[in-house]
Amino acid sequence: MSKRASTKLAVVGAGAVGTSLAYAALIRGVASEVVLHDINEKKVRAEALDLAHGSQFLPSVSIDASADVAVTAGSDVVVVAAGAKQKHGETRMDLAEHTVDLMKKMIPPLVDASPEAVFVMVTNPVDVTTQAALKISGLPAGQLFGSGTVLDSSRLRWLVAKECGVAVGNVHGYICGEHGDSETPLWSTAAIGGVPLNEWEHQTGQLGESKRDEIADRVVRAAYEVIDGKGATNYAIGLAGTRIIQAILRDENAVLSVSSLLDDWHGISDVCMSVPHILGAGGVRQALRLPVSDDELDKLRASADSIRSVVRRLGF
Ligand code: 2OP
Repeated sequence: MSKRASTKLAVVGAGAVGTSLAYAALIRGVASEVVLHDINEKKVRAEALDLAHGSQFLPSVSIDASADVAVTAGSDVVVVAAGAKQKHGETRMDLAEHTVDLMKKMIPPLVDASPEAVFVMVTNPVDVTTQAALKISGLPAGQLFGSGTVLDSSRLRWLVAKECGVAVGNVHGYICGEHGDSETPLWSTAAIGGVPLNEWEHQTGQLGESKRDEIADRVVRAAYEVIDGKGATNYAIGLAGTRIIQAILRDENAVLSVSSLLDDWHGISDVCMSVPHILGAGGVRQALRLPVSDDELDKLRASADSIRSVVRRLGF
């Protein structure tokens, strides 16, 4: 059997999100080399050591870490998870100014070290971070994008699956727009096992408008609920990030609601925002123009305006 081509994943930021994402990526065996990079040398090396100690129980992989950006050199995928985390009661947008300043310093050396890599931004506010990092990097739009609402879409699918008594894998539906308070569910294109949601509700009497609204509200509040209880979210974003990395490194052409620079998506342009995109080797291939309802499009336009206003205020 031919030896699998070597693939290198760099995770920048050894906080709860970065280390959870690295841990998930190792367990899923998505890359043959995983490196961690963080300015805190002692912490990042300890995190890598703790992961490497479990190597016997992982698909074959080499693990390394350093505070020197050179450790990321030649990566195929670079995930940026470094930055401040929301404190109790803070919104993701409250982190914008600090995060963008951090990207101005962090992105250029990472791109110099891995000019061919696909860059996946996770740091919040991820849509603003992505748009700023894209400009700073000078990379083409498909090569740098954000994790966006991949996590929120997973939350939506889990809640619908629980409510309807079906497997999560058979629920199809997206949260789109900002990864944040202005995100919105695309109920009009949601389905369960191929049955459009409207038809499912008619046949089963499940869900309905008030339950849909309740679920949508729980998705928007999900992160606040977890942060209130444990101070941060990390496992689900780690799994969502790993799903994205796998689509890239295995050239899957998978459809995921990542945040990428839109160009006339139902008339929405010049903003990094989440809609379903086809993802494969090289990053984002194209955006899918879902047949959304007028009400959904109005909400997505409002979400785009809210992201764009922060991006413009910060000079991007
Ligand atoms: C989340 O949605 C905080 O953006 C992070 O879990």
